[in-house]
Amino acid sequence: MILRDLIERKRDGGRLSSDEWREVAQAAANGSVPDYQLAALLMAIFWRGLDDAETSALTSAMLATGNVLHRPEGAAPWIDKHSTGGVGDKTSLILAPLLASVGVTVPMMSGRGLGHTGGTLDKLESIPGFRTDLSLTRAESQLEAIGCALIGQTTEIAPADRRLYALRDATATVECIQLIAASIMSKKLAEGLTGLVLDVKRGSGAFLPELDRGLALARTMIALGAASGVPVVALVTAMDRPLGDACGNALEVRECLDALRGDGPVDLRTVTDALAVEMLRLARPSVAVADARATLRDAITSGAAFDKFRQIVAAQGGDVRAVDDPTLLPTATDIGDVLADREGVVHALPPRPIGHAIIALGGGRTRTDDVIDPAVGVIFRVRVGDTVRAGQPLATVHAGSPSALTDGRHRLSGIIRLGDGPPPDGVLPWVSHRVTTGGVEEYRAE
Ligand code: URA
Repeated sequence: MILRDLIERKRDGGRLSSDEWREVAQAAANGSVPDYQLAALLMAIFWRGLDDAETSALTSAMLATGNVLHRPEGAAPWIDKHSTGGVGDKTSLILAPLLASVGVTVPMMSGRGLGHTGGTLDKLESIPGFRTDLSLTRAESQLEAIGCALIGQTTEIAPADRRLYALRDATATVECIQLIAASIMSKKLAEGLTGLVLDVKRGSGAFLPELDRGLALARTMIALGAASGVPVVALVTAMDRPLGDACGNALEVRECLDALRGDGPVDLRTVTDALAVEMLRLARPSVAVADARATLRDAITSGAAFDKFRQIVAAQGGDVRAVDDPTLLPTATDIGDVLADREGVVHALPPRPIGHAIIALGGGRTRTDDVIDPAVGVIFRVRVGDTVRAGQPLATVHAGSPSALTDGRHRLSGIIRLGDGPPPDGVLPWVSHRVTTGGVEEYRAE
């Protein structure tokens, strides 16, 4: 392979064959080509795009550079959920034990927070002792034993994507629908899934804020799944405001424990329920929506989902006492409210600046090697559209020092927008669209 020729062809609007994508992926994984050539190819892809066959070939080629989880013959369905990410987006911690408690195997491979969005691995690791760095072999045994493993992307999985993603991050070539779809699906297909539910966020706090770009990503990933025989269903959900009340790692774990006990914020339950129904119906396509809802509700009310979470925590080295008694989770030293400086209506809780405020508190990263404080974050006391009086608490900041608390309260009071009359931009529906191979439909909770 002469990479220079491939770069030139892509630069000029041509296409690469499946064999050529395989060689590119292998060279990316084994280090036989320099960063500058891969970066140039990525920029050419960014401008010229990939057709469907190229996207599929690149996905399979990246997948083939690593190992995969092996689903035993005749095993229960293996279903995962992937979210494009957001602030307060914590549904994975509820969905994984919930689905596993009703007999669906959930091999969930998640990421860390980067930029303004949080990451499932960081949330889980706020449980003392919890390990997410399981080998694939260990994950396979755990899946067989308890039906769920919550792991990170090990070096064994799609190493070509690891290198290409780092280069994309450094060369401003992340925001390319085909590259995003190939990157995510190369890792998801390595999980040996029989079905995948996508949670595509839209709104100002989403990775791709505009609906049409989110839908394009969903369609591309659905097509990639179909090409590999894995059914994929996408729901479009709101990220114009944080999901739930809690933002920050240990605070979000507490909120998930509430949800697993049948409590917690209604919006979190709405989004989680919608995703859970899709996961269960991918596992058991003949089950009616109403029956799927009833099965899932029973798993919460009977305590089966909560118990499954305890089993997962125990299996991955976590301290189960912190699950039973969340006061044992990391707790911030300095806690204080942000008060309304006027009466009015909450016009906006914009997720991006909220995510950046959490990073400033020490609860997120600006660089992959930053160490985070799991205890810090924010709990919102109001919702967009609520009427508030002067002096009413709008949010509670959990910080690691008195000065961080002062700074956090100051930031939050500048971020939470109060006004008069209804919010001018309104709010997005929590779940707005459902996308399948059949097309896009407006979401209706049956
Ligand atoms: N997440 C991924 O894993 N890859 C991307 O390209 C974007 C988000």
